[in-house]
Amino acid sequence: MSKYIIEGGKKAQGEIVINGAKNSALPILSASVLCNKCVIHNCPGLTDVKAALNILEHLGSKYKIEGNTVILDNSNIVNNNIPDDLMREMRSSIVFMGAVISRCKGAEISYPGGCELGPRPIDMHISAMKKFGVSIEEKGGYLECKVKDKLKGCVINLPFPSVGATENAMIAAVNADGNTTIYNSAREPEILDLADFLNKCGAEISIDKTGTIYIEGVKKLCGEAEHTVISDRVEAATFLCAAAVTKGEIMLKKARAEHLTSVLPIFEEMGCFVKSSSEGIYIKGTENLKAPKLIRTMPYPGFPTDMQSPLMSAAAVSDGTSVFVENIFESRYKHVAELTRMGANIKTEGKVAIVTGVPHLHGAVTRCTDLRGGAAICIAALNAEGITQVNEISHIERGYENFDGKLKALGLEIKRER
Ligand code: UD1
Repeated sequence: MSKYIIEGGKKAQGEIVINGAKNSALPILSASVLCNKCVIHNCPGLTDVKAALNILEHLGSKYKIEGNTVILDNSNIVNNNIPDDLMREMRSSIVFMGAVISRCKGAEISYPGGCELGPRPIDMHISAMKKFGVSIEEKGGYLECKVKDKLKGCVINLPFPSVGATENAMIAAVNADGNTTIYNSAREPEILDLADFLNKCGAEISIDKTGTIYIEGVKKLCGEAEHTVISDRVEAATFLCAAAVTKGEIMLKKARAEHLTSVLPIFEEMGCFVKSSSEGIYIKGTENLKAPKLIRTMPYPGFPTDMQSPLMSAAAVSDGTSVFVENIFESRYKHVAELTRMGANIKTEGKVAIVTGVPHLHGAVTRCTDLRGGAAICIAALNAEGITQVNEISHIERGYENFDGKLKALGLEIKRER
């Protein structure tokens, strides 16, 4: 199994280009099932993207990859079943449900996999599909989804603004008979990107200021579409943390400040200098990193749960005490045990973590616990005295393209070993 060897103590300096967003690319690839020919630019080279392409291939798609562009031919979708081994590759595989049911008038899929962040039920996805008139039966670990004739437009009130359930409902509504309204939908930038992609395919989706999504069902999509995925705000935030813990100075090209409105002020609170422009985001660290007082993860536009763990690594080496409250996932503090091995002072109880900053962490043998937790351990290692071995980096490669290469480009010491 591959690992990173990181030597801490160097300053991050220079510039890198932020990739396309994983959390946009994945639902867009699922939604592409509705459109025969699609060209998706700025698609990040990730194992999760490969897993989505494997599902598409199984369904009958043909694809070509040219750099960060994926060219899809979905004119011959022949299967409506997604086997267990493909579904388990990632949580996001569940977003194929709406697309496959719509295109094939039914689907047979198993439960999705993904990071272990506590129980990750799919009840909201299932009840949304039922609203469209889909009958769903569980048989031997598979969900058998059937539609009598056509999906029927409906009104969906989500009990929580689930990102995945909003995406599934939006995709299913595109070709449904009649209009669909989704209340209390997720409002993440990736939701808007998905709507943008579907509209380019010929869908009729509009979103009002409150985030309510209105979809007029159309009989057919235009059959050809080209789209560029937005840049990855989680990747950008991770590198902002790298600059903060190394007292560095970096430019993140293509990073979009308007997607980070609840995040950038935290870096300023910590004493970093942040400047955003149409080119990207520039950050200059400080010799005296101050602890951010309170971080509460919330649905967008609140502080994102995906940035909680990398930011915790920065808080762990700040001056003062921070309180983190994780409101989205039940078990998203698995990285804490690894940071503690490196000398961090963190106490958790339920959804709360109290982080008391220490002057320096020290190198240790660690393992990635999940995707963002793994990135957090690497951020901590960049600050630590000595060498840190980070095992099980396949988690990181699910969501960061060329993570080690980008850190190296910033002058940091990281080696990938088998
Ligand atoms: C997406 C993101 C993930 C991010 C998360 C929250 C992708 C590919 N992944 O995941 O990076 O951390 O949003 O911003 O976009 N829930 C239920 N029942 C359901 C669905 C969700 O109880 O049917 C719960 C989940 O367990 C979790 C919360 O709702 O506690 C939020 O989940 P959701 O917004 O659906 O996250 P994902 O779409 O899985």
